[in-house]
Amino acid sequence: MKGYEIVEIIENFAPPELAIEGDNIGLLFGELDKEVNKIGIALDCSLMVIERAYNEGVDFLITHHPIIKNPVNRFVDLIYKKISLLSKADITLYTAHTNLDICKNGLNDCLAEHFNLKDVKELYPNGLGRIGIFEGSFNDFLKKVEEVEKNYTLVKSKEVEDNFKLAVLSGYGLSQKDIEYVSKIADVYLSGDLTHHSKILAEELGLIVVDATHYSTEVFGLKKFLKYLNKNINLDIVSLDF
Ligand SMILES: [Fe+2]
Repeated sequence: MKGYEIVEIIENFAPPELAIEGDNIGLLFGELDKEVNKIGIALDCSLMVIERAYNEGVDFLITHHPIIKNPVNRFVDLIYKKISLLSKADITLYTAHTNLDICKNGLNDCLAEHFNLKDVKELYPNGLGRIGIFEGSFNDFLKKVEEVEKNYTLVKSKEVEDNFKLAVLSGYGLSQKDIEYVSKIADVYLSGDLTHHSKILAEELGLIVVDATHYSTEVFGLKKFLKYLNKNINLDIVSLDF
């Protein structure tokens, strides 16, 4: 199977035009006009993941987080190690980031579906996150949270009635700006990457927050994306960090 055929299958699921502006997605290293024999998939394009891809004989690597977020001026140290290993094994690197968060059945939809949200809408106008009604008690909700991440962090400064408004956002969604925005429209908010200051703000604004970790809120949906790939691609696909 050719690299560009794999990209077509990925992009049928996660159209690149859905990505938020400035996101570093798509083909990030290597070429597409080559025969692919083994695919790797990972949340992060870490050195560990690239080493595993290299050792496993992967020649096409799909990651959710891009290898480089901000422009770099020199290829030394860690980025040199990563690039030279990708090059040595001729691994094509393709990233589906916010387009995979936003798309139908993507990472955000997977969370919304897991919590059985009713009247689901996009949380942000750019398509990130979902908001809807959670039908049940707060304890019912926590049981469902455990299925995403057992070691979640709960910030709860007030009680909440059954059938509450729940917002979910995969990955990094607990900045102070996010907390402020979500506190106006939801009772409970589940995402990842809580900081001390956003915790305090959530308490002050009376927003109940669950940090189910950046990793788990994204890997939850990535597993479903991997199922889609396995269904549509007749090649060995190995997950490298989940
Ligand atoms: Fe992320």
